Amino acid sequence: MKFFIDTANLQQILEAHEMGVLDGVTTNPSLMAKEGISGQQHVLAHYQSICSITDGDVSAEVISTSYDEIISEGEELASLHSKIVVKVPMIKDGIKAIRYFSSKGIRTNCTLVFSSGQALLAAKAGATYVSPFVGRLDDISYDGMQLISDIRLIYDNYGYQTQILAASVRTPMHIVNCAKLGADVITAPLSVITSLLNHPLTASGLSQFLADHKKAAGL
Ligand code: E4P
Repeated sequence: MKFFIDTANLQQILEAHEMGVLDGVTTNPSLMAKEGISGQQHVLAHYQSICSITDGDVSAEVISTSYDEIISEGEELASLHSKIVVKVPMIKDGIKAIRYFSSKGIRTNCTLVFSSGQALLAAKAGATYVSPFVGRLDDISYDGMQLISDIRLIYDNYGYQTQILAASVRTPMHIVNCAKLGADVITAPLSVITSLLNHPLTASGLSQFLADHKKAAGL
């Protein structure tokens, strides 16, 4: 399973990259705003900076919602770097644009997906990735993991090549459960990825090993 980091923060992207477990980056307009990135030139330059850190795919989201504008914004983003994947919202014009991008060899990430029917449409349009938002579903008492399982079943039934990119991942167990269910990718904040490191027996075991070593060495 691939690990993407869900942030526009360059320091955090670098930290995940240096851990050696980073396969790509996802961003969205809220994450860009959180870093204070606004204005077309700044946005484009920021994506270039992200592409210079990671070896993997970088999802750059369009803010347009009409077909012609999505195409022109998406083509500009895609021309920035070969790592760019154009992130397109799950709306009618978005699906039409994903079909167009697919025919031109431009890779896409269909975002804001909350149902298996939406995921089916994204795959039929030729999306490279589909992003079901598991955390936001859990927030409203739906079952985010059930959606991952349903999409996996549907894609496997028909051999769709669209990769399931579980998004809105908020906990380490979201990551583990996505791995069990066969999601192709998870995207999560750095804090959630690094929380996979933690286990109390690892911490206490390490303390004991170091204490015993000191004792034996007479330190
Ligand atoms: C997906 O690509 C989104 O950027 C993201 O995962 C949304 O996460 P949130 O629901 O925690 O904002």
